[in-house]
Amino acid sequence: MMLHIPEVLTKAQVAELRRGLDAAQWVDGNVTSGSQSALAKRNEQLPESSPAAREAGERILDALERSPLFVSAALPQIVFPPLFNRYAGGQAFGLHIDNAIRQTRGGETRIRSDLSATLFLTEPEDYDGGELLVEDTYGAHEVKLPAGDLILYPASSVHQVTPVTRGARVSSFFWIQSMVRDEGQRTLLFQMDVAIQQLAGRVGLDAPELISLTGAYHNLLRMWAEL
Ligand code: NI
Repeated sequence: MMLHIPEVLTKAQVAELRRGLDAAQWVDGNVTSGSQSALAKRNEQLPESSPAAREAGERILDALERSPLFVSAALPQIVFPPLFNRYAGGQAFGLHIDNAIRQTRGGETRIRSDLSATLFLTEPEDYDGGELLVEDTYGAHEVKLPAGDLILYPASSVHQVTPVTRGARVSSFFWIQSMVRDEGQRTLLFQMDVAIQQLAGRVGLDAPELISLTGAYHNLLRMWAEL
């Protein structure tokens, strides 16, 4: 399942984050890639150890915790510390798949990447190209979102970023290890949660049928969650 999560950050938060990021020291993006994706990748990144990246990453993690849609869809167990990339002057990232296991430089965080996320930090009208193309069994999906919006997609998907031919595209990207490893189970739980929330708005949280459905949701989560 691919999910667009609007307004993870407000425009004011994006502007503040960008001030710190734009002033930081960017390096060649191949510092984080495996050998296969290094061939396909042409961009710049902030080093993991960059104070600007760490500070911005903390802000993003805080915002994710406050996003009910993100929590419901990802059922996050561990969120990898957010990284930052910038594409300009024709830079692109050709077709690739993200590594299954990601670990931070010092090895303090190691996760299985169940989900990939891109948080857009540049308004779409400020650059040309730079679409994220994600392939699944329904074909290729083109994603280019307003600044502050996030796209969540299965880390098992083949994807690419098309060349940026005008302006610069700055984004944050990271991976999530979910409490529910199986994509189908996770999607089912998300659909059920969304339906329960919508129903609660119509019939009230204390309707006996809703209590029963909520119980079924939690019992499925109990059955499938690995902590
Ligand atoms: Ni990728």
